[in-house]
Amino acid sequence: MSHASLFSPLQVGPYRLQHRVVMAPLTRMRAERVSFAPRDLNAEYYGQRATAGGLIIAEASPVAATGRGNPATPGIYSDQQVEGWRKVVDAVHARGGFIFLQLWHVGRVSHSSLQPDGALPVAPSAVPITGEDLLAMTAHGKPEPYETPRALETHEIAEVIDAFRIAARNAVAAGFDGVEIHGANGYLLEQFLQSHSNLRTDRYGGSIANRARLLLEIVDAAVGVCGAERVGVRLSPYGVANGSGEPDPMPLYSHVIRALDERGLAWLHFIEPRSSGAGRAEVNHQNVPSAMKLFRPLWRGVLISAGGFDAASAEAAVAAGHADAIAFGRYFISNPDLPARIRHGIPFTPYQRATFYGGGAAGYTDYPFHDEGQRP
Ligand code: FNR
Repeated sequence: MSHASLFSPLQVGPYRLQHRVVMAPLTRMRAERVSFAPRDLNAEYYGQRATAGGLIIAEASPVAATGRGNPATPGIYSDQQVEGWRKVVDAVHARGGFIFLQLWHVGRVSHSSLQPDGALPVAPSAVPITGEDLLAMTAHGKPEPYETPRALETHEIAEVIDAFRIAARNAVAAGFDGVEIHGANGYLLEQFLQSHSNLRTDRYGGSIANRARLLLEIVDAAVGVCGAERVGVRLSPYGVANGSGEPDPMPLYSHVIRALDERGLAWLHFIEPRSSGAGRAEVNHQNVPSAMKLFRPLWRGVLISAGGFDAASAEAAVAAGHADAIAFGRYFISNPDLPARIRHGIPFTPYQRATFYGGGAAGYTDYPFHDEGQRP
């Protein structure tokens, strides 16, 4: 797949992308605050970022009320949420774009104030997130230390899988072109994968094969709904977000990636470890491994990479065949017309971190287009 460029077409499952500048999933916490349904403002935001033949991965969306870890993140578990998402999908399709939804369960990255009936967050094991600077978001806005989560009973794991299956069905009902399973950044599925957060002694803990079981069963549930060619997976090997971090990632992630590879999925999507935790602070770790370079030999399908790319490094990664497409996060927030800016060498508008999470149109739908005539 070498000699490709960011602006050469790419086949992703049944879809023919016209370019390889992908919008990364980005939590913005601007859904309706009670129903957690997307609203018109969200449709406007995604519509601005849609391009003909471009791919958007819509923000992580809890598959169940227990999967929530933030206020005002849009869900995908109620009819009202499906209706809201349909407006978003329609806005993207109207401009000829493709849009997948990222399916999310935060597990222990939550707080009882955000959980149904004030219950403790659930996790593979009763192991809290600890560490300096790591605080839980709360419903009342003031961050607090993480609580010790409640370990899921084995029979409850089937309910988690069902929640992902139903969420995939809901995403299809809303018109999404497919789904991405969020297996990254320290959330529930990564908590199961990694040895420090998974101390289970049933078939979902212990060996690497057991720790990988939940992710694979959820992928298979989504494949049963959408077909493998409409299901992607996001992973962050070597990442350290939200208290995650496997002591020796290579054997674990080699197993997972080989198992995913056999399934013929739409894509595998990495967050490069250099930008791990990018959602909370400016980070650019030096001298860390490159996930795309390490794991590319194990993956035959489409590989998307994200994390700290600019126009030049994105073009170089695709030209070298390290990745087939590059997902941009922060610069897609501040540049609704990012693909055009990259194509024409137009400088990027800097992003404002203060408006990443929550609020209204400011820092959301009011970033400039280089050609305001292009604003939909
Ligand atoms: C993120 N990121 C993220 N990742 C993910 O898988 N699901 C999500 O919902 C979010 N939400 C999110 C919100 C915000 C405000 C930021 C800045 C980041 C991570 C994101 O997709 C991407 O991997 C990183 O931002 C690194 O890419 P950039 O920003 O260096 O291009």
